[in-house]
Amino acid sequence: MNVFGVDIGGSGIKGAPVDLERGDLAEPRHKVLTPHPATPDGVAGCVAEVVEHFGWSGPIGVTFPGVVTGSTIRTAANVDKGWVGVDAAALIGERLNGLPVTVLNDADAAGVAEMTFGAGRGRKGTVIMLTFGTGIGSALFIDGRLVPNTELGHLELDGHEAEKRASTKVKEDKDMSWEDWAHRVRKYLAHVEMLFSPELFIVGGGVSRKAEKFLPLLTDVRAEIVPAGLQNNAGIVGAAMAAAAR
Ligand code: BGC
Repeated sequence: MNVFGVDIGGSGIKGAPVDLERGDLAEPRHKVLTPHPATPDGVAGCVAEVVEHFGWSGPIGVTFPGVVTGSTIRTAANVDKGWVGVDAAALIGERLNGLPVTVLNDADAAGVAEMTFGAGRGRKGTVIMLTFGTGIGSALFIDGRLVPNTELGHLELDGHEAEKRASTKVKEDKDMSWEDWAHRVRKYLAHVEMLFSPELFIVGGGVSRKAEKFLPLLTDVRAEIVPAGLQNNAGIVGAAMAAAAR
């Protein structure tokens, strides 16, 4: 069965029909740039554009880079604050002539996909997926079961929010070397490990494509650390899985 997945990110909004048996995109994804400011109406219009590009009519899963309870957005660290309190499924559904929409946190979606089809497949115990991008997202699993909306990117690190020190955006904005950035990521992982003692960290986001540049530098962390298996498509796949599970 195919279900449509859309991943709303700080820089791009991308989507594709997902083959849920294979846990992979059924067609090459389509991407549009995230509008700035990333207002509810602007972003909903982009999501509709991505879906309409494929002439899709069926269930749609959508990730959002903030806390989502039910389908209501509760936080919006890296998008327009006008999102807070918005029923995102209703808003996006309206733009798509009433197609059924399911919304969940972006890192939770990526984690769900990784636990089923990627690097976390079959893993028991405590597993933490961390996505590095505009912010830092987290997904916490206990024996394969998600604890939603953990928001570990906002933990304090050296007197700042961790994502303001160690996201990929910070690395790019400050033109940091892999060594300097990995030093911050290592400190962050050590902190998360101190709190949760996971068996496994799954590192996702666009940067997981360049895992060889920084994973070897993440020493002093007891837990195993692996790159995301689905790389940057995990959010799209997880969004589609959530829509199918509804
Ligand atoms: C948000 C999270 C999100 C992460 C990655 C953070 O700023 O608070 O909800 O998962 O960025 O997009």
